[in-house]
Amino acid sequence: MARLMNSIALTVLLTGIITAQSLQSCGTAQYDSTQYTCFNNATLCPIVQGNAYRACGNACFSTTQYTCINATSSFLCPIINGQATVGCGGTLCYPLDGTYT
Ligand SMILES: *[C@@H]1O[C@H](CO)[C@@H](O)[C@H](O)[C@H]1NC(C)=O
Ligand SMILES: *[C@@H]1O[C@H](CO)[C@@H](O)[C@H](O)[C@H]1NC(C)=O
Repeated sequence: MARLMNSIALTVLLTGIITAQSLQSCGTAQYDSTQYTCFNNATLCPIVQGNAYRACGNACFSTTQYTCINATSSFLCPIINGQATVGCGGTLCYPLDGTYT
């Protein structure tokens, strides 16, 4: 019984150490820095399969799929077939070569 209690105590101790090392603060939230990135001490964005998403205002996006046009309004434009699109008027996105799809 004493051995079992020691084992539990050790597990709790080790878990506490591991948790303390990997958790960081983002504003009032705690996060695991191996799984999230904190932006402006406020917005947490996930790391998905090694791809660290970035913040566009309150929104998170993959830089391989989107470009942040306006962080204030979290306006994003998609990257289509490897080509970035640019924003127009705060709501529309169009390719730089001028072709609409
Ligand atoms: C982040 O936000 C928390 C909670 O609002 C605050 O206590 C802390 O000082 C901030 N840290 C920075 C680096 O601004
Ligand atoms: C970004 O969005 C905000 C809020 O909608 C707007 O007031 C501002 O003019 C926009 N900035 C640009 C550069 O379009």
